[in-house]
Amino acid sequence: MLWLMLVVGLSIRAASLPPPTAAAYESLPGPVRHACSFEQLANSRYSVHSGFDDSLPRQVLANVLWAMSRAPRADSGDRDLYVATADNVYRFDQSQSRLIVHLPGDHRYNSSSAFEVGVATERPEDAGMAIQAGLLAGAAFNEKACGTGVEGRGVVSCPMQWAADHADADWKPEQTIQMVNVYGRAGCTPLDTLCAARSSDSSLMLPHVVGPDTFEAVMADLGQDTRFSSVGLSDENVSQLLWAAYGVTPHLTFNRRQGLTVPSAMASYFLTDRIYVVGQYDVSGYRNRLAGEASAATRDHRIERTIPGDRRPQLRAASDRIPGSAPVYFVVCVPDTAQAAAMMEAGFAGFQLLAQARALGLAGSLVAPLDRAEREAIAMALELPDGHVPALVFACGEAERVAAAADLDNAAVTIVRAQPAIRRGELRVEYLLNRAGAVRVEVFDMLGRPVRLLLNEQQTSGYHAVVWDGTDHDGARLKRGTYLIVVISGGTVARHKVDIG
Ligand SMILES: Cc1cc2nc3c(=O)[nH]c(=O)nc-3n(C[C@H](O)[C@H](O)[C@H](O)COP(=O)(O)O)c2cc1C
Repeated sequence: MLWLMLVVGLSIRAASLPPPTAAAYESLPGPVRHACSFEQLANSRYSVHSGFDDSLPRQVLANVLWAMSRAPRADSGDRDLYVATADNVYRFDQSQSRLIVHLPGDHRYNSSSAFEVGVATERPEDAGMAIQAGLLAGAAFNEKACGTGVEGRGVVSCPMQWAADHADADWKPEQTIQMVNVYGRAGCTPLDTLCAARSSDSSLMLPHVVGPDTFEAVMADLGQDTRFSSVGLSDENVSQLLWAAYGVTPHLTFNRRQGLTVPSAMASYFLTDRIYVVGQYDVSGYRNRLAGEASAATRDHRIERTIPGDRRPQLRAASDRIPGSAPVYFVVCVPDTAQAAAMMEAGFAGFQLLAQARALGLAGSLVAPLDRAEREAIAMALELPDGHVPALVFACGEAERVAAAADLDNAAVTIVRAQPAIRRGELRVEYLLNRAGAVRVEVFDMLGRPVRLLLNEQQTSGYHAVVWDGTDHDGARLKRGTYLIVVISGGTVARHKVDIG
């Protein structure tokens, strides 16, 4: 519904514009929606450095700019988007969704690009958030658009420092162009649903690389919340958020490193081992590479405890901008805040955290930029080693007041992963809650008799799991046969049949 209002709203605005006098500006259409999720795009993204052509439909540019202008901010000043095409350099007027000619003529960095989008802002992490939103918005065209004839297959892009240096010198921007993402068309690249992020030590659950909502639906609802309920985050949700921020994906980089959900200058991966989760029980570091291997050619998906105990009070005390009630905080660090490429990566990860939280129906809030005093206080609170300098904090949980179920026609609960039979002595059923609420999970025999209550509690939206060892209420092993696991929430019932052999 929100989506519809948004599209209609944009079209009405476009329709009521005065007719263009000269070709001084060009109105862009509202965004189209694609049948792919935020997670699938994050899993499928990679940079194409050359070998593309300039034949992309205008709609691709419209979606890219729409998404970039909705990306969160890490700066209180202006963030301007410039676009270079074969015709002109334009400034994007976000309020009217139109391109205003800024500099006539062809000023592209790469003469075979369809368009190049430059982000002019004071802070590289602020640019990073917009760049990441834009590159996913472009990649979405590799999936079919819903209800439109727009064909954009083969959309590729690459953030290019060289292009940014060129644009900064040539496009006459009002403030520094921190980064340029170059877009073009290349051979068709189907979206990837293979999950490369498997934990070598089972410390994190397998993330989901296909999610419940379209990317554009997530972008349309990318607000931030600073007040959270007391319900904690499930391990599945933490795993999902970490993967989105900096998890491995199936592609290899140009220098044969294992790619991630975000780009990195020269595939340097400045944030490796520098993302922390601060929760009720401990502080942990995220690891996307194998233990004992410095090589970025390896892949993993795990966390390592760095400090036992609850450090949330100390973290909250480090800055009065950090929301006080979140159950979990993610702290994204860089080796050095003076390193622009590392700060930009922090922006990529920050965008990914917020977008993933929204895709899971969770509330989140980014605290960036951090000043020197805040960085030092956070480093002290978490006992961070040298070279781990906090760049941003992401607070996450369930919104204090979960909006009254707006989309009641959507099932509240769906089972997303479960085995058909009990293996290795236990069964794990993973389910997705589309909205927070009371959840009851119970096992029945095929005559409908309850044999075991597995769970009855309040849970946040997002991913959760329940484990059953095949025993009844008294802990006795059930006899061979078929049983039904029933997950009930918000008036929806999801069932899964399982055999005990
Ligand atoms: C800040 C930044 C600057 C980059 N500059 C260039 C560049 O000038 N030329 C280029 O071909 N790629 C550039 N890239 C793309 C990286 O080479 C690419 O992200 C990296 O190899 C990882 O591969 P992937 O994006 O396919 O995962 C840049 C990426 C970032 C984040």
